[in-house]
Amino acid sequence: MNENMKNVGKPIVKRGILDIEAYIGGKSAVPGVANPIKMSSNENPLGCSPMAEAAFLASAPRLNRYPDGKAAPLRAAIARHFDLEPERLIFGAGSDELYILLAQIYLEPGDNIVQAKHAFLSYAISARACQARVKEAEQADLHIDVDAMLAQVDARTKLVFIGNPDNPTGSWLSGQEIRRLHAGLPSNIVLVVDEAYGDFARSEDFEPMLAFARDKDNVIVTRTFSKLYGLAALRIGWAYAPSDMIEAMERIRLPFNTTIPAQEAATAALEDQDFVERAISENARWRSWLIEQLTALGLKVWPSQTNFVLVRFPDAPGRTAHEAEAFLAARGYIVRGLGNYRLPGYVRITVGLEPHNRALVELLAEFLGGTNG
Ligand SMILES: Cc1ncc(COP(=O)(O)O)c(C=O)c1O
Repeated sequence: MNENMKNVGKPIVKRGILDIEAYIGGKSAVPGVANPIKMSSNENPLGCSPMAEAAFLASAPRLNRYPDGKAAPLRAAIARHFDLEPERLIFGAGSDELYILLAQIYLEPGDNIVQAKHAFLSYAISARACQARVKEAEQADLHIDVDAMLAQVDARTKLVFIGNPDNPTGSWLSGQEIRRLHAGLPSNIVLVVDEAYGDFARSEDFEPMLAFARDKDNVIVTRTFSKLYGLAALRIGWAYAPSDMIEAMERIRLPFNTTIPAQEAATAALEDQDFVERAISENARWRSWLIEQLTALGLKVWPSQTNFVLVRFPDAPGRTAHEAEAFLAARGYIVRGLGNYRLPGYVRITVGLEPHNRALVELLAEFLGGTNG
């Protein structure tokens, strides 16, 4: 080494990294409020399956062991349950990790991804970390617009992301619209269909895209155990993709990225279909109730196929989204303001347990000066 190479200043973080805004999750605490009710992170208010909890606890004596990097029993269980080829699955520390892997295997500096303007924040973080650009499609009435997405595609586009159903809007595209999006893409561009909330969707025009992906070379579908299955703490998600995409991701995946407790709890969670059905039906029931009640308060509430609702607050001082969030927080209810999704007039509310949904609506009625005020 040449002496001139020494003393040339501090290590420099590569270009673009410090322009990334770090992900901020839903708040879980309010200063001065003991045990607040958290309706900000789309977690399952019922907890998780008792069978999953038992499997988690039963793994405790093996905490000294490394996990099976290929998650063989969970892989077999998912393949059986969803009728998929086991070798076409990959597991991540949450589905979040899978977006990082995708970005790393496809994006070179100057490439880009296409996503909806208000898309889930992780896609863009993963892309920017690879010095790729993020091209955003406008969303009329907060719907993903297939034509606007296709119009953003250019020669440097490598990945196209859709959340279906979408976070934070709760909206969804029909299977037909996703097919149209796919048909409009050049064959070398990967379509990522993020179905983190797909388990909750029961609308007739919603279509899980796992079967569609089977004979496609450029479609990956991601899923998670964080939402319906109530295992957010364990960080475990998965994806179904073409074999060569899986193989490339496997080259760089951390060898032990999913843990023994997570794999075993997830396997048990999948088996407990009673819990799953109860969680889906409770969510659907209280989601409809919340939409109805919040609409009756004069708020605009978006249709949702997820476990949350998107609510627009008036611009009038004293009634804004920001003030609603603070009002609720001071009374022990945490909801998600959406300033960092560039939706400052909106709040996202996770469907909760009956008493919490009822209390939340009463508090908002009071906030808006309604009948319960
Ligand atoms: C749309 C969407 N995709 C993916 C995820 C990631 O979930 P996880 O990393 O917990 O699997 C989330 C979590 O909030 C989400 O909202």
